[in-house]
Amino acid sequence: MNLLINLLSVIFLNRENFIIIRNAEKDDLIKVIEINRRCLPENYSYTFFEAILKDYPKSFFVAETYEGEIVGYVMCRVERVLSKISSFRIKKSGHIISIAVIPEYRGLGIGKLLMLNALKSLKEEYGCEESFLEVRVSNKIAIKLYLDLGYKIVDVLKSYYIDGEDAYMMVKAL
Ligand SMILES: CC(C)(COP(=O)(O)OP(=O)(O)OC[C@H]1O[C@@H](n2cnc3c(N)ncnc32)[C@H](O)[C@@H]1OP(=O)(O)O)[C@@H](O)C(=O)NCCC(=O)NCCS
Repeated sequence: MNLLINLLSVIFLNRENFIIIRNAEKDDLIKVIEINRRCLPENYSYTFFEAILKDYPKSFFVAETYEGEIVGYVMCRVERVLSKISSFRIKKSGHIISIAVIPEYRGLGIGKLLMLNALKSLKEEYGCEESFLEVRVSNKIAIKLYLDLGYKIVDVLKSYYIDGEDAYMMVKAL
């Protein structure tokens, strides 16, 4: 393992055990898809995950335990959209497509660290000026995480999800 581990990429659980955040690789995808299906009702095909990894590898991260188990991921896409912060400007915006951490590893700061790595990469590697995401209005934990990271609710997307639930559109300047 690279000894020069970026401080933004490690969570020490105790003296011996730690979690690292690193860029995803193709071999991780089966596990990432398993986590996605376990944690979220919004699921995607293998080819979708593969295409996102191919097109935006630097903002696709996984969380891995010291024993090599993948326990979380975040994947993003860069989109040119009408700015949701300053009107009438097209901007490169980093869309957080999906993030999940398996239940056994929640509340340890992994979700936050995945997001911080994704946001850093969207800005520094892909030149994004904003980031946006959709979240179920009932998903209090995720909404709190995003608010803490500086996202703001800018819209309510009525019946956005297949079961009819509304989504908040949240945006953050990078
Ligand atoms: C949202 C999710 C990724 C957060 O992952 P996580 O690793 O638990 O997040 P963190 O440990 O970094 O916690 C982030 C914040 O969430 C809050 N939080 C985490 N677990 C919580 C819990 N069980 N109860 C209440 N708040 C909780 C904490 O307030 C924390 O903020 P803090 O830094 O002030 O303590 C995770 O809950 C998850 O996978 N949920 C299911 C999938 C999902 O909803 N994805 C988002 C779709 S938009």
